[in-house]
Amino acid sequence: MKYFIVTYGCQMNVHESEKLASICEKMGYELAEKREDADLIVFNTCAIREGAEERVFGNVGALKKLKKKKPSLIIAVCGCSTQKESTANYIMNTFPFVDIVIGTFNMPNFEAYVNAVKTGRQMELLKEGEIDEQIPYKRTSGDNAWVNIMQGCNNFCTYCIVPYVKGREKSRSEENILKEIREVLAEGKYKKITLLGQNVNSYGKDLVPSVSFAKLLKDICQIEGNFGLTFMTSHPKDLTDDVIDVIAKEDKILKEIHLPAQSGNNRILKLMNRKYTREKYLDIIYKIRTAMPNARITSDFIVGFPTETEKEFEDTKSLIEEVGFDGIFAFMYSPREGTVASQMEGQVDDLVKKRRVNELLTLEKKIQKNKKNN
Ligand code: 5AD
Ligand code: SF4
Repeated sequence: MKYFIVTYGCQMNVHESEKLASICEKMGYELAEKREDADLIVFNTCAIREGAEERVFGNVGALKKLKKKKPSLIIAVCGCSTQKESTANYIMNTFPFVDIVIGTFNMPNFEAYVNAVKTGRQMELLKEGEIDEQIPYKRTSGDNAWVNIMQGCNNFCTYCIVPYVKGREKSRSEENILKEIREVLAEGKYKKITLLGQNVNSYGKDLVPSVSFAKLLKDICQIEGNFGLTFMTSHPKDLTDDVIDVIAKEDKILKEIHLPAQSGNNRILKLMNRKYTREKYLDIIYKIRTAMPNARITSDFIVGFPTETEKEFEDTKSLIEEVGFDGIFAFMYSPREGTVASQMEGQVDDLVKKRRVNELLTLEKKIQKNKKNN
């Protein structure tokens, strides 16, 4: 019996699939080389943009033929996209050959859903869930080990679906995180530890007593061994001076920071509910560069947020030039059902979004070329 997992979206999902893989192997399944060889196919989905969801629907639809050839094949769809009831229902109704549709919070119980398939199709969407500390990971990312430090997000940026599908912020205990990292390093295979969370800088605020992200970083660096430590993703509103200090001082922490700005215009940042201004963002960059002149700084940008004018888009370009990022990801704004921005007047035309995204990519190439020549 073999399993195959198809993962969409961010590193958190890649890591979540490492847990699904370990559940499949505990059930006696072995990893298949390709989906055609599998007896159990799992889609771990992403909801961040419409494109990611459409790819899932296309790929799930394509399994109809496989299921016809092998009726015993079990097909499961889980993750952020199916956490939304409308999408879960759509999949149940459109693809009768899909056996299991579950949301993000049901995934620790994956084994039970597979076992119950004998009695019929399964669909369940829990609304919230605790972080699972029991199921191990089948690590699949070479010499990098992902370590989840928290789940969920409290920020409600107006364009973002994450708080709706991952729930509120919940931090793992520092003790459990340190224990996991010690065990990972004891295996001797890993040279890099990457801490994961939607907003790692607010780590520990919900713990009693609270623990700061800076303290967590310091304590991890005390663990013996030769390893590099990095983390994602940071929110500019929460990246405090003490965190910048720790990154600068601790040799084990890689001097790289992914700090999504999203826009360079204050009116748009406000509409996005990002809780910082262009000036505040530049101030943080200045602090990082002062403490670590060679730090690698990368960012995310969204173009075509509702009502974004040409002039406001130019502010994003000028911010990118001013900072001279070491890499950027540029996305066309994608309305997500249930978010505040999807209801805003002044949605921007797709063609305009496409042109703006291309302009950012051209600018990005120019910056990287100049950096190489300098
Ligand atoms: N449309 C486009 N991009 C988005 N992102 C998040 N939500 C959306 C959306 N609705 C981008 C942000 C974030 C990255 C992971 O995805 O830039 O930092
Ligand atoms: Fe989404 Fe904003 Fe939370 Fe990031 S901080 S996951 S963009 S709501």
